[in-house]
Amino acid sequence: MPTEKPFVIAIDGPAAAGKGTLAERLAGHYGLPYLDTGLLYRAIGRLMADRGFDLDDAVLAGQIAEALDPEDLKHPGLRGRESGELASRVAVHPSVREALVAFQRGYATRMPGAVLDGRDIGTVICPEADVKIYVTASPEVRARRRTDELAAKGRTVDYERILAEVRERDARDSGRPTAPLKPAPDAVLLDTSHLDRDGAFAAATAIIDGRRG
Ligand code: CDP
Repeated sequence: MPTEKPFVIAIDGPAAAGKGTLAERLAGHYGLPYLDTGLLYRAIGRLMADRGFDLDDAVLAGQIAEALDPEDLKHPGLRGRESGELASRVAVHPSVREALVAFQRGYATRMPGAVLDGRDIGTVICPEADVKIYVTASPEVRARRRTDELAAKGRTVDYERILAEVRERDARDSGRPTAPLKPAPDAVLLDTSHLDRDGAFAAATAIIDGRRG
C-alpha cells in the first residue's frame, strides 16, 4: 500500500470474536505485516506457568515480560485454550503491559505500517491508528465457534464449559483497571454474530477503504 507514513489498522475485541483470522487476512490484502499481540501475553503466561511461578506475582511477571525473546513466541502450546487463560491472568499486571508497549509501538511505526490485533490497540498502543475496528459477537456465538473449531481438530469439548470460559475471560479482560477491553471512542463496531469469515472480511475492507478515501 503506497503511503508516506505508516498505515496502521487496529483490531480489538473479546476472545474468539474472529479477530485473528480477520486481521491476518487484512494484512495479506493490504500488504502489511501482522502482529498478533495476544501471543505476547500467551508467551508470558506460559513461561510463568512452566517455571512454576505464581501468575499473580506482578514483579516476576514484569521481569519475564521485559526479558521476552522472539523465540519464546514459538512455544508449541501457545495457541491453545490453557495458554489463553494464562495470558489473561498475566495481562492484568501493569508491569507486564508496560514492558510490551515499546515493542508493539515499534512494530506499528515502521513503514509500511501494520495490522495489530488485541484488546487495547486502539485505546492504548496505537491511539493514532488510521482505522480502528472493534470486532465482536455474542458470547453464545463465540463459544459455538470455539467449540466447533476444537471439534474439527478432533477434540471433545462441552459447549457450556466453553461458554463459561468465554464469559469469564470477557469479565477479566473488561474489568481490569489497566487497559481494559473496550472500544476506542473512534472505533467502528463490527458485530460478526451473523457474518461468516468472508462476510466479516468484506465488512472490514469496506470500513478500511472508506477511511483511506
Ligand atoms: O484469541 P483470543 O481472543 O482467545 O485470545 P488472544 O487475543 O490471544 O489474547 C489472550 C489474552 O491476552 C486475552 O484474554 C487478554 O487478557 C490478553 N491480551 C491483552 O490483554 N491485550 C492484548 N493486546 C492482547 C491480549
